[in-house]
Amino acid sequence: MVKSLYNLDKRKNDWSTAEWIVDRMFAEMLQAVPMIGNGQRNIRVLEPTPGEGAMLSHLKVKFALWDGIVYKAAKGDFFDMPVQKVDVAFVNPPFTPTKYMMEIMGRVFSFEPKVVVAVMPWLALVNSTRRMQNFIDKGMSKVIALPRRAFSGGRVQTCIVVIREGHTGSVVLETIV
Ligand SMILES: C[S@@+](CC[C@H](N)C(=O)[O-])C[C@H]1O[C@@H](n2cnc3c(N)ncnc32)[C@H](O)[C@@H]1O
Repeated sequence: MVKSLYNLDKRKNDWSTAEWIVDRMFAEMLQAVPMIGNGQRNIRVLEPTPGEGAMLSHLKVKFALWDGIVYKAAKGDFFDMPVQKVDVAFVNPPFTPTKYMMEIMGRVFSFEPKVVVAVMPWLALVNSTRRMQNFIDKGMSKVIALPRRAFSGGRVQTCIVVIREGHTGSVVLETIV
């Protein structure tokens, strides 16, 4: 049983995802799951840790042209949200402690999304072989290094990680300056 830090975490800064980052995450999702761009209906979109809801509201604008979008955003603690199938997951989880972030990521995968687009600390990815291997095994297809301005006032180097169900090829590295 995971000890949730939800109530503890709510007292800290929200570190909301800026619209330009959500733009890029959305574009990556469309590239990763072309059938969504080709008019797939009834797309279930998971946002496990909405906080003040910034990423979710940006997503609602971007998905506005699509029919039948069903938002599955945690209403409270994500660990209390029943596991259910979704198509895509957009994630900007709490970054610390890393173990807690990884527990949230692990639970996201139990919702069986076809694609996960997540913002996370660069170090969380590269400073553990086991963690890196875990993301590769899950289908990591791209990592986009984000600039420091991504989270104003923050000191953590961040990146966008794209994970596609079934992807086994190489991992593309891109940077935004
Ligand atoms: C980095 S912020 C990002 C907020 C939002 N996802 C966004 O991108 O704008 C992470 C958020 O996760 C929330 N959080 C932490 N633990 C959680 C949990 N167990 N369930 C739901 N939300 C949680 C925090 O309160 C915080 O608002």
